Amino acid sequence: MRLSGKTALITGAARGIGLAFARAYVAEGARVAISDIDVARAEAAASDIGKAAVAVEMNVAQQDSIEAGVAAAAEALGGIDILINNAAIFTAAPITEIARADYDRVFAINVAGTLFTLQAVARHMIERGRGGKIINMASQAGRRGEALVGVYCASKAAVISLTQSAGLNLIAHGINVNAIAPGVVDGEHWDGVDAFFAKYENKPLGQKKAEVGAAVPYGRMGRAEDLTGMAIFLASDEADYIVAQTYNVDGGNWMS
Ligand SMILES: NC(=O)c1ccc[n+]([C@@H]2O[C@H](COP(=O)([O-])OP(=O)(O)OC[C@H]3O[C@@H](n4cnc5c(N)ncnc54)[C@H](O)[C@@H]3O)[C@@H](O)[C@H]2O)c1
Repeated sequence: MRLSGKTALITGAARGIGLAFARAYVAEGARVAISDIDVARAEAAASDIGKAAVAVEMNVAQQDSIEAGVAAAAEALGGIDILINNAAIFTAAPITEIARADYDRVFAINVAGTLFTLQAVARHMIERGRGGKIINMASQAGRRGEALVGVYCASKAAVISLTQSAGLNLIAHGINVNAIAPGVVDGEHWDGVDAFFAKYENKPLGQKKAEVGAAVPYGRMGRAEDLTGMAIFLASDEADYIVAQTYNVDGGNWMS
């Protein structure tokens, strides 16, 4: 029960990794706000988890929605001790085919969404005066560019950089900002990634997924549950001295 008595706001938590984080945090004694743009799915997830979870509608691409969502979570939970900036979208295209609208959408959610949700929660934490823990979801895609994944890779590199700046700035208030960089994690997100590669690399559906899974040194794709240990640790008191870092949890794909 390493998060006993703690409260957490998790964005994009209606499914996938964010939902696994919510379940793991509740199992460690926390109460969680499952926020998502897909409010129906967030509500279903929260009611499945039980009374330790509430659903909060939040579109991290819109400032008024961020502010309303953070206020609603703080109200429902009696304050926010932990934020996981998890909501993100993926896109892929050769450089010559990147659409301006896709770039704007990805950066509005993955980068501006991360920064301004972090900002709103940091203001709340500072006002409350109890410090806090903020975890941003980066990616191995932020460590190195990929031929077909320019926009998403750049967005995750920006998340790593923002984690460093926010970590250095907010530790003065007792707020630890760190990030997790997963590798390839099976689920609906990767079904979408696989479909992009099927289109651009002319592969049958499922083939890219099989290839990336076989290439992981650990021997398989990640599962959302493979990431929960790091998310619990970074939110716990044991991580008080960890500042502005991005941790790879990827079965050995990347070393840094
Ligand atoms: N799955 C992977 O292989 C992988 C690898 C590296 C990093 N990541 C990162 O981990 C995080 C979670 O990934 P996942 O696989 O669970 O993704 P996912 O696509 O399964 O879930 C993302 C969630 O975010 C929500 N969302 C989308 N746009 C939103 C918005 N504007 N406002 C609020 N919510 C919004 C979606 O409704 C969805 O519930 C993301 O930041 C992703 O980039 C995933």
